[in-house]
Amino acid sequence: MCWIHLLVLLAPAIWQVDSHNATAYKELLAKLNDSEYYDAGLRPNITGDAVAVEIDLVLNSVGPVQEMDMTWTASFYLRQEWVDDRLVIGPGAGRVKMDGSHISEFWVPDVFFSNNKDGRKHHLTVDNHLLYVNGTNGRILYSQRLTVVSNCEMDLIKFPHDSQTCDIKLESYSFTTDDLTLGWSTSRSATSLLPTAYIPDFAIDDVSVSDCSATYAIGTYPCLKATVHMRREIGYYIFQTYLPSVLIVILSWASFWIDHEAVPARISVGLLTVLTITTQLSGSRSQLPRVPYIKAIDVWMSTNLVFVFAAYMEYAVVTVLSRRYKKKKMKDARNLPLDDSQELSVIQIHLADSTEKSTTENGGPVANGSSPTFQIRRPSSPSSPLPVLDSTDTGRRLDKRSRFMFPLVFAVFNVTYWTYYLAIA
Ligand SMILES: *[C@@H]1O[C@H](CO)[C@@H](O)[C@H](O)[C@H]1NC(C)=O
Ligand SMILES: *[C@@H]1O[C@H](CO)[C@@H](O)[C@H](O)[C@H]1NC(C)=O
Ligand SMILES: *[C@@H]1O[C@H](CO)[C@@H](O)[C@H](O)[C@H]1NC(C)=O
Ligand SMILES: *[C@@H]1O[C@H](CO)[C@@H](O)[C@H](O)[C@H]1NC(C)=O
Repeated sequence: MCWIHLLVLLAPAIWQVDSHNATAYKELLAKLNDSEYYDAGLRPNITGDAVAVEIDLVLNSVGPVQEMDMTWTASFYLRQEWVDDRLVIGPGAGRVKMDGSHISEFWVPDVFFSNNKDGRKHHLTVDNHLLYVNGTNGRILYSQRLTVVSNCEMDLIKFPHDSQTCDIKLESYSFTTDDLTLGWSTSRSATSLLPTAYIPDFAIDDVSVSDCSATYAIGTYPCLKATVHMRREIGYYIFQTYLPSVLIVILSWASFWIDHEAVPARISVGLLTVLTITTQLSGSRSQLPRVPYIKAIDVWMSTNLVFVFAAYMEYAVVTVLSRRYKKKKMKDARNLPLDDSQELSVIQIHLADSTEKSTTENGGPVANGSSPTFQIRRPSSPSSPLPVLDSTDTGRRLDKRSRFMFPLVFAVFNVTYWTYYLAIA
């Protein structure tokens, strides 16, 4: 980067060496003023070869990149060089710096950005452009500071772990390759990035250049393309999206430690986490276009929604299970268990005289007759275990299991997600 910086700093110094030759400047103005001799409507070497324009770009800011309308903004210095032999002054003339107000009197290439949506020249405090003429050989350097908003087809399938390539395309509007050719600079690097370049949400991996001359029905038009390879900085999304949603998922597990009898507490934890994730999900989508495929951020947010939803549903299951358990317990307390599959011995005790009256096998309400009775139930053999529902509240047990199952599954999901998007994709 340092040598680019040096070049940029040194360039104006070199240009200024000869730019104070007032005689040469006056001679040049006289040439421009002579409409017989110089016509800005005619390209240089009109009877000869196509004029060769050499171009280089110095990027001084990249961004913002707008995913919503798939555009990106780039600010750069566009420098064009060509030879106009009509403007040769003499051997000793050297470089002549033209005043900004005279630039419109020169022939300049009609380069435009074929993929741009919008753009502007900078006018503060004066028009940000310069033109130097080398009076010795008629070589012209024309530099402008531009900000261009261009279309950029983006593939957001890996968003926000994505890389994007966006183009700046320069074409000549009216000249075919018979009259004008565009080429990347041979004396300077075709594209360079200012060390102070402002690039907020991306890291620039590379800027590659190519020729994109295209043949249309009315001829072959010269075209140059600079492709900026950008890698999105994940940092913003870590703090804006990933960390908050992880915390909310963890918060949803807090309900497993809250007693299931505490209905308002568990309902509010469940509802709040589901609602918060839903809000985050729509928030993460609001700045992205409606693309037909699933983005990485969608995978993340939807899975988190499923996690908090599952934690909420777990409570529903716990409620049902423990209600069932309570009913059973109550039934056990005042009635006979009527399970045909269990061999039970029932001892009926007559209260009136406290003597054993009858014993029935295989259940069935036996409380008949007029005398008040109560039943004692016990397993057919003393060693056989009690039925599960009688000894444990399965709802409570589900809570206990969820306490480590949910974090485990979430950890597995995280490992899968991050390895897939950071290493594989
Ligand atoms: C330009 O040409 C006109 C005559 O055509 C003359 O009056 C004027 O002074 C010239 N200006 C310069 C700067 O030479
Ligand atoms: C103009 O064109 C001729 C060929 O027709 C070529 O020899 C000459 O170098 C060209 N001049 C410039 C300045 O490009
Ligand atoms: C200025 O340019 C003229 C040619 O137009 C040249 O003869 C003269 O030597 C130059 N003067 C200086 C100081 O370079
Ligand atoms: C102007 O052109 C001459 C002849 O090609 C060259 O020697 C000189 O270095 C050029 N001036 C600058 C400032 O590049």
